Amino acid sequence: MSLLIAIDGPAAAGKGSISRAIAKHFGMAHLDTGLLYRAVGAQVLQGAEPLQAAQQLQAEDLNALALRNDTVAQAASKVAALPEVRAELVEFQRRFARRTGGAVLDGRDIGTVILPDADVKLFITASAEVRAERRYKELLDSGAKTSLEQVLADVIARDARDRSRSAAPLVAAKDAVLIDTSDLSLSAAIAQAVAAVEKDHPHEKS
Ligand code: DC
Repeated sequence: MSLLIAIDGPAAAGKGSISRAIAKHFGMAHLDTGLLYRAVGAQVLQGAEPLQAAQQLQAEDLNALALRNDTVAQAASKVAALPEVRAELVEFQRRFARRTGGAVLDGRDIGTVILPDADVKLFITASAEVRAERRYKELLDSGAKTSLEQVLADVIARDARDRSRSAAPLVAAKDAVLIDTSDLSLSAAIAQAVAAVEKDHPHEKS
């Protein structure tokens, strides 16, 4: 049987690492849907019109390395508030999810809008302070120059925009399992996520 797993949550809560680990554990494909919005945001930063950038998006534009910076993240969060951009990206995500063997999709609206019938829904969260600290360490490791205060302000601004927009706001699906990673190591958070999948689907054990 192939499972559809929807993983949502705010920025830097750990959902990317958890999603990759879940996909690996159960042998499924994984789509980081934030990359779609980041790729559109990056094109807009270069002068493109948001809807046109979404319409012309190609799989090869989803280069994680080039898109993992906070300027692109803020641009992504802005284009993600545009209903016409979101509508344009729905089919790409659903097509990815329809593949045989199952799929893990992570983002902000996967359990609520993109895959409301997903077999398992997880909502990964953590306090803004913990998320900012994690992101700050990642940025320092990658050689970026910034301050913890700046990163916290960016995290809070992005959360506020993602939660308050009228088109598919960031919110936990009613049937999502909540995992707060504030006080969890990454391996403990992954173990909880794997256990949540196996609880309802024991035959998926690998
Ligand atoms: O997950 P991320 O940090 O790469 O996402 C970047 C931005 O894209 C995020 O601030 C909001 C938007 N996004 C969205 O609106 N819906 C998704 N499913 C994924 C991301």
